[in-house]
Amino acid sequence: MSTEEQGGQKTAAASKIAPATGKLGVMVVGLGAVATTMIAGVEAVRRGLAKPIGSLTQMGTIRLGKRTDSNSPLIKDFVPLANLNDLVFTGWDIFADNVYESAAHAKVLNNEMLDQLKPYLETIKPLPAVFDQYYVKRLHGTHVKTGRSKRDLADQVIADIRAFKKTVDRVVMIWAASTEIFIEPAAVHESIEAFEKGLENDDIAIAPSQIYAYAALSEGVPFANGAPNLTVDTKALIELSRRNAAPICGKDFKTGQTFMKTVLAPAFKARMLGVSGWFSTNILGNRDGEVLDDPQSFKTKEESKLGSLDYIFQPELYPDLYQELYHKIRINYYPPRGDDKEAWDNIDIFGWLGYPMQIKVNFLCRDSILAAPIALDLVLFLDLAKRTPSLRSIGIQEWLSFYLKSPQTAPGLYPEHDLFIQSMKLKNTLRHIMGAGLITHLGLEYYD
Ligand SMILES: NC(=O)c1ccc[n+]([C@@H]2O[C@H](COP(=O)([O-])OP(=O)(O)OC[C@H]3O[C@@H](n4cnc5c(N)ncnc54)[C@H](O)[C@@H]3O)[C@@H](O)[C@H]2O)c1
Repeated sequence: MSTEEQGGQKTAAASKIAPATGKLGVMVVGLGAVATTMIAGVEAVRRGLAKPIGSLTQMGTIRLGKRTDSNSPLIKDFVPLANLNDLVFTGWDIFADNVYESAAHAKVLNNEMLDQLKPYLETIKPLPAVFDQYYVKRLHGTHVKTGRSKRDLADQVIADIRAFKKTVDRVVMIWAASTEIFIEPAAVHESIEAFEKGLENDDIAIAPSQIYAYAALSEGVPFANGAPNLTVDTKALIELSRRNAAPICGKDFKTGQTFMKTVLAPAFKARMLGVSGWFSTNILGNRDGEVLDDPQSFKTKEESKLGSLDYIFQPELYPDLYQELYHKIRINYYPPRGDDKEAWDNIDIFGWLGYPMQIKVNFLCRDSILAAPIALDLVLFLDLAKRTPSLRSIGIQEWLSFYLKSPQTAPGLYPEHDLFIQSMKLKNTLRHIMGAGLITHLGLEYYD
């Protein structure tokens, strides 16, 4: 049977996916601008106050079968995703503000919206966090756990997870906390045993984000990373993810400038246009901007933002077009703009016979408005992966690269950054787990 003909039929594969019944507990590390915009947004959508714009799981459709079949259900009607009404939120923060207070401080959503949601948002109060200022220089935490060792702190997070698990049916964890300093994989990240020894010995290469991730994966809880920290991008935690059937994906929400980059760069490459320079700069005035003003946290972000162009352009395959590319990224903390980031890109391209041209992109965006639906989708899709036999024990969910600046892949594979390849990969993964035919876009059958 051709792949097109199978489209839409739910087969044996689909029936093996556990249903999304009961409550899905969402544990958010860091109840700042992104997290509170996601939580408040979910509540606003539940009450019919607003639409979940920007969320593929809530608004996206998926074509099944031939173009002539006219069969494009909503993704949420095709795969068994948790319903927004079944989401229960909790989290940790280094400040004791409840979600209403934190959202009011972040100034992303207007007071009219926040006031309507206040009674609900006030009920979500952060648990004390695992925090050490060595890893985020610009913050001074007041609502933090104390422990004899990093092992002790990990056990306290595990206790938090176990207590929450008693109140819900399934749990997913997502890091929406600040960007930590740049850390490279070390000996302690080589295996689960080395990592656990490192927890006992307070190894400096184990940052708080790794402690949360270790706790989640130890408990079989899927973990997403919205920041560019190393976190689960190590042998030890990948192994733990596989061992405990706790799915992970890449890192760093792909929201503004990198989102645009991974749309434009594939277009230049598809047309064989050369690029000699790409200068990207941002002004940003929220707490994230303040943290990124520290050179060590900026370095973590810079590495994450730099990667995409090299992989998309493949200068080793196209030396005449991309070998000389000069790529520079700047983030400037500028308080007056708050969460309303402004990004400029100057792109120096060249065409036929080497003649130069320029493109300017000026994106006046809202950081957390772009990130919130991504955080929500990652939570819902990781929960789906956990319930799907063919996905739950593979560790890295490469099909979720669509949402991330730094996709994670199996060893030896280069990451796919092109947004449209990522989108195709995501949708074909959904078709695959549901036993529907993959869409190859070949389409010759229409001309038989
Ligand atoms: N908004 C975007 O477009 C976007 C895109 C990509 C990545 N990110 C990343 O997402 C993260 C969140 O962004 P934001 O704008 O919400 O930042 P934010 O500063 O408003 O929120 C981060 C929160 O994390 C808390 N925190 C810091 N360390 C913690 C710890 N160890 N444990 C618990 N809580 C901790 C802080 O107190 C703060 O409330 C940042 O790392 C940012 O770089 C954001």
